[in-house]
Amino acid sequence: MLKPFNLFYFLLSLILISCSPSLQTPSDIIDMKADSVLGLMTLEEKVGQLTLFTSDMDQTGAFIRKEYEQDIRDGRVGAIFNAYGADYTRYLQELAISHSRLKIPLLFGYDVIHGHRTIFPVPIAEASSWDLEAIERSARIAAIEATAEGLHWTFAPMADISIDPRWGRVVEGAGEDPWLASQITAARVRGFQGDDLTAVNTMAATIKHFAAYGDSQAGRDYHSVDMSERRLRETFLPPYKAAIDAGVKTVMTSFNDLNGIPATANHFLMTQILRDEWGFDGFVVTDYTAIMELLHHGVAADTAEAAKIALQAGVDMDMQSGFYQKALPDLVKKGLVSEQMINKAVKRILKIKFELGLFDDPFRYSNPQREKNEVMREEFIEAARDMARKSIVLLKNDGQLLPLSKEVKRIALIGPLADGRRELIGSWSAAGDWTKAVTLYEGLKAQLPHTKILVEKGCDINSSDRSSFAQAIKSALQADVIILALGESYWMSGEAASRSDIKLPGVQEELAKAIHSTGKPVITVIMSGRPLTLNWLANNTNALIQAWFLGTSSGNAITDVLTGNYNPSGKLPMTFPKSVGQIPIHYNMKNTGRPFDPDNKYTSKYLDISNEPLYAFGYGLSYTTFEYNDLKLSQNKMGANDTIQAYITITNTGAYAGEEVVQLYIHDPVASVTRAVKELKDFRKITLIPGESSTIYFDISRDKLSFYDADMRWGAEKGDFIVMIGGSSDNTLSASFELSESIWDQK
Ligand code: GLC
Repeated sequence: MLKPFNLFYFLLSLILISCSPSLQTPSDIIDMKADSVLGLMTLEEKVGQLTLFTSDMDQTGAFIRKEYEQDIRDGRVGAIFNAYGADYTRYLQELAISHSRLKIPLLFGYDVIHGHRTIFPVPIAEASSWDLEAIERSARIAAIEATAEGLHWTFAPMADISIDPRWGRVVEGAGEDPWLASQITAARVRGFQGDDLTAVNTMAATIKHFAAYGDSQAGRDYHSVDMSERRLRETFLPPYKAAIDAGVKTVMTSFNDLNGIPATANHFLMTQILRDEWGFDGFVVTDYTAIMELLHHGVAADTAEAAKIALQAGVDMDMQSGFYQKALPDLVKKGLVSEQMINKAVKRILKIKFELGLFDDPFRYSNPQREKNEVMREEFIEAARDMARKSIVLLKNDGQLLPLSKEVKRIALIGPLADGRRELIGSWSAAGDWTKAVTLYEGLKAQLPHTKILVEKGCDINSSDRSSFAQAIKSALQADVIILALGESYWMSGEAASRSDIKLPGVQEELAKAIHSTGKPVITVIMSGRPLTLNWLANNTNALIQAWFLGTSSGNAITDVLTGNYNPSGKLPMTFPKSVGQIPIHYNMKNTGRPFDPDNKYTSKYLDISNEPLYAFGYGLSYTTFEYNDLKLSQNKMGANDTIQAYITITNTGAYAGEEVVQLYIHDPVASVTRAVKELKDFRKITLIPGESSTIYFDISRDKLSFYDADMRWGAEKGDFIVMIGGSSDNTLSASFELSESIWDQK
């Protein structure tokens, strides 16, 4: 039965559609509907739609204002975030529908970053899987659970290229490489939005933080960013662009200034690139109080000026500063801001509300029955376990200590992460319930019922207390094998969580040394939200695993790998430095005019450490071994519009079936500007049984060779190119071909 509210919009739609037979597409119809609503709105109601406030159910920024319910009644806010649950969202929506004049439905947003109730591995862990299908499924499940709890919109995926592990937010992204991050970001957008936004289990996604937030100076959060346009466009923009091309509905501005202009007031980013170049037609929302922060940046003297420059830059929605609400009506009345500009912003927002079906039924997502049925389903927990297994990176396995024998008699499980539970779901864990996460101790007990497991904390994650070392050593001496579980607290990564040093916190490394002095075989499992400097462990422990924070199914997934129920296949999406002093360090650096030469003092190096990282981008071991042979190119000369193929044969030369991420890199050794020594341009994850060989190929066309030249023209220059294929950026076979002519895109 249509309520008066729905009836009004239903009849309005019928009239519009009937008198506009020329309307062709659903998009035309939505456009017409949005125009019709816009035409009914007062200026204050329009500005209300440009305003986003947090509820006080969760807090993700510096302050909360309590007046948001009255704003809803008065039609002075168009969206609420950090509010979820069928009942609570229904309650808030009722305030809008029953009290506001035009009854425009609210949009409910939340940071559903790596799961909503069933928590998946943190994004950088998922990126380690290089498994786009699994990553898309992770976002899909997150959307099913989040929309079952009344949510319409997630502030994800984060696509900030990260080359500085001091920055805590590396945990939220897809690592250092533009190609990998682009593929992963697009997969996440597809997962959240599905292929039909009107479906009740899909939600609008947000690409964030636009732009280049990951290059915050010195890895210090919220710090300035300054770079050439070439580096911005070649390294930092591709993942955002991939999200736009995947149809992402909203974009979030970043806190940082870029080349002197804060992103939230940056017309080059928000209009020239986003709208004019990329054709983005969704809406732009700021990050938390970012318009107010223009005062701190020093580019606006007061509320009115901050609101004006943000709107004129192309920002549609104001998250939490309230500056649009306070200043825009007056700015329009004074003729300082055009109402036309406000209308454009409002229409973008209304269109997404129509697409989500909220004008048809504002309560369609606030369904207690769905909430009961759709959340933490067994298959979701199983999917989280599968994603977690695939996110684990095996860094070392001397003497094939792993996988553990099923007959192992006594294990000493030692460390602050041995039975730690809260850490496992990491930062940005949305509505996740950490008490439901499976610890490593629980995972081991479940799969090794006949093994005696002595569990000792040994020390805290981040204290100087060594008083439990002795007990830990005592248990270690009784064991056949030791598993050390070390790492960071969940709050040591994520927002406002930069670290000036990236070693294991507290006295954990001392504990590791004490345990290793027992002479027993040691497997070390690292749980962290960033690459850590693990030099001593890399040189001394027998087996080393990077497990990140793996979510609800952590303990089961790590145990699946330790026992060999799953053969690890993860590859690092971000370089692990030997020292914080090497940062920034990433695989795709330039050759320089004085490339390192051990026999020549006057070359690019440090006096106290080598140039190599501890572990390279793309690195990860398996319980089996893979051999690469017969790299062949279909042609050695490539014309402007040709596509050539690079063939490679991979053989499983070990004793276990396993998956391998085959990586394609390309280098342009001579060009009109300096080029990275290699750039990832494709990858494929394959599965081989022992003894099996597979020959695969990659297509290489000019888009994989292109770059911005000295005049910022995009294209490929004639000359030789080197193709490198392997299982890690630092271990490849190579071949070369010649591009016969230069090709430039029309600017
Ligand atoms: C935070 C974060 C952003 C998040 C937003 C809403 O400050 O920077 O990633 O989506 O506020 O919680």
